[in-house]
Amino acid sequence: MIVNTPKKLWGGRFQLGTDRAVERYTSSVEFDQRLYRYDIEGSIVHCRMLAKQGILQPEEADKLVETLGQIRQEIDRGDFSFDSKLEDVHMNIEARLIDLLGPLGQKVHTARSRNDQIALDFRMYLRDASDRCVELLRDLRRALTAQAREQLDVILPGYTHMQRAQPVLLAHHLLAYVEMFGRDEERLKDCRKRINVFPLGSAALSGTPFDLDRLYAAETLEFDEVSRNSMDAVSDRDFVAEFLFDLSMIMVHVSRLSEELILWCTKEFDFVEMSDAHTTGSSIMPQKKNPDVAELARGKTGRVFGALVAVLTLLKGLPLTYNRDMQEDKEPTFDALDTVSSTLAVVTRVIQGLKFKRESMFEATGRGFLTATDLADYLVRKDMPFRRAHQTVGQMVQYAIEQGRELHELDLSEMKEFSKLIEDDVYDVLDVRRSLETRRVLGGTATERVADELGRIEETLKQPEEEES
Ligand code: ARG
Repeated sequence: MIVNTPKKLWGGRFQLGTDRAVERYTSSVEFDQRLYRYDIEGSIVHCRMLAKQGILQPEEADKLVETLGQIRQEIDRGDFSFDSKLEDVHMNIEARLIDLLGPLGQKVHTARSRNDQIALDFRMYLRDASDRCVELLRDLRRALTAQAREQLDVILPGYTHMQRAQPVLLAHHLLAYVEMFGRDEERLKDCRKRINVFPLGSAALSGTPFDLDRLYAAETLEFDEVSRNSMDAVSDRDFVAEFLFDLSMIMVHVSRLSEELILWCTKEFDFVEMSDAHTTGSSIMPQKKNPDVAELARGKTGRVFGALVAVLTLLKGLPLTYNRDMQEDKEPTFDALDTVSSTLAVVTRVIQGLKFKRESMFEATGRGFLTATDLADYLVRKDMPFRRAHQTVGQMVQYAIEQGRELHELDLSEMKEFSKLIEDDVYDVLDVRRSLETRRVLGGTATERVADELGRIEETLKQPEEEES
């Protein structure tokens, strides 16, 4: 017979001890120990609130708070050994409190359940994590913006379908990513509102008969809202799924940027050079300089999506209220968070180290009929209907391809064969710089517009972030 020694904190109704394999299988302390600071902070405020409500004596609360602080220091210093027999971070800390305080330590869990406790810890953890991600996104946006500022006069082909399409400013291209990461930042800030809801007081699932002051505890722990339904509060993890979607979207954007950098540093494109400090070599081919950071960032996107799918799947079909399945939300979330944090930090450094090859980029705008649309627009201004102008220029492009020439390399007489409306001012229209500078529409690539946007963005990225009123 397996004897139940040492007895679990929940072991009252058990006659047999837990099978070792089950103990290992159910334990979460290996990973949820990273919540310890939040767990302790939550317990401290819980004790204070219990004293405020006359549920604990003031001296009892003082002693508990002091000892919780001491346990925090033990863990900070690495002097604390987490024990998987004690299952999770909550029980490990509570057991230590009882070690140190005896019966008084046994009072900390009054009017509380691990079900509302874990919801509290995870919400506090994700609140901070989300703020850190916002800062990392801002650093990346600053790096992209600084490059855009430095490269304000550089032109390259803009692509659609991976075919050269129209000339654009490199700064315009880089600022497109600044917009994407800006929306990612907004999404995280919005998600934070749903993270920042105080669940404690829901207890196991139905609330508690003790007269708690939930508003006081919530305010002390800087929560903006208090949960309104105890059953929802102990079983809601949509804030986790939403957060993981936000992280996934960040990785989608990072992977697109990475893919472009990978292409741009091929000999075929030759648009950019990454710093030696941010690339790696080949163990066999001496000439190689590989963009491994960008490739890994692109590749790591998969595990972040995986985390989102894991959490959605574990929630699907779960009946109310708390189910142990929910413990499975932590590892993928921690992994996704670590992945996104390290990716954002290192991609920022790569961006800072990029050397753009302005001549190569400009040269690439010379081939591929990048100003064909401008020629069609020229005919439209001379009153040719757009669809006909499109046809006409299409035929001119076909003719030029056969000749192995670009549009601006055709003689005026050759062009006039296609339309009498074409005069010698057509050559201005075929100039890539001019083409770009005419796109002065709001959101367009003209230097004037891009400079405006750059200024606006630089203003919003000034350190530290302005407090929103
Ligand atoms: N380790 C658990 C989790 O992460 C904490 C809550 C446990 N509650 C329980 N009734 N066993 O979900």
